[in-house]
Amino acid sequence: MKETGHVPVLYRETLTALELEPGNIIIDGTLGGGGHARGILEAVSPNGRLIGIDRDAAAIERCRERLDRYRGMLTLVHDDFKNVRKILDSLAVQEIDGAVLDLGVSSFQLDEGERGFSYQADAPLDMRMDRTNEFCACDVVNGYSEDELHRVIKEYGEERWAARIAKFITEERKKKKIETTGELTEIIKQAIPAAARRDGPHPAKRTFQAVRIEVNGELTGLREALEDYVSVLRSGGRFAVITFHSLEDRIVKQTFRKLFEPCECPKDFPVCVCGKVSQIKIITKKPIQPGQEELGKNPRARSAKLRVVEKR
Ligand SMILES: C[S@@+](CC[C@H](N)C(=O)[O-])C[C@H]1O[C@@H](n2cnc3c(N)ncnc32)[C@H](O)[C@@H]1O
Ligand SMILES: [Zn+2]
Repeated sequence: MKETGHVPVLYRETLTALELEPGNIIIDGTLGGGGHARGILEAVSPNGRLIGIDRDAAAIERCRERLDRYRGMLTLVHDDFKNVRKILDSLAVQEIDGAVLDLGVSSFQLDEGERGFSYQADAPLDMRMDRTNEFCACDVVNGYSEDELHRVIKEYGEERWAARIAKFITEERKKKKIETTGELTEIIKQAIPAAARRDGPHPAKRTFQAVRIEVNGELTGLREALEDYVSVLRSGGRFAVITFHSLEDRIVKQTFRKLFEPCECPKDFPVCVCGKVSQIKIITKKPIQPGQEELGKNPRARSAKLRVVEKR
């Protein structure tokens, strides 16, 4: 979602923040179109290495072609970036010099209408980033109870009409299984009162985001994964994370704060006795956001936020 016309979001900012040097070993956990990856490969050339991960096999294949000239420096891994420890073990890599995660969906995924990520194209309800998984949007929309749908749409979509949307979905599917993004979009439109639909983003935006997050388990285990990335960084190594919505950004911000100030002693203790020591320095006190120039070229970047930390 955060790159259009294959211009990666916050590209310069991310590359600068990583403080790359030739010879570095870097992980890009969200390869997507390989935009950030290409910049990283250039910067760590000629003897560095990029371990590029994506759970979407199409992204891996695209990068295999696009980044062919860096073949000798690039290791492509079709997996969930959350498995970073297992992945590094299997490659016999103990420590890395830096890592980047650019969370969410890619513009390729959105633009490939038939994958069902977009309410702008009519397609089967799919939304799987990893098409080797079986669980898809159709299972959420047709299989979850009204309560479960309510929770997902409210929590992951931050949608104030979640209860009505969940009710309308469960009513509609009694008549007929809901099979396409077009059908779901129509139901959402009926559920949200016309007055509330008049301004703001597309009425289906929040619900689609919610279902997508649920299908792909995007927030599940994210905190632990961020901790794992910090744990495999060498001292002085940088970790950059780009988020696209407030739920993700909150998790990133809180996890980094905890790694920075891990002490769990009661506030009135004169000295720390828990012994937990700070693991990182926070490089971005406030998240970096796209400037006017980037927003002019790429409106999709609007809600992107970059947070960077350094391992102590
Ligand atoms: C926003 S795009 C990345 C764009 C990329 N930075 C670029 O410059 O082209 C996010 C990518 O991360 C992948 N992705 C999302 N969550 C993932 C996960 N848990 N494990 C592996 N890949 C994931 C998606 O399949 C998608 O291709
Ligand atoms: Zn303490």
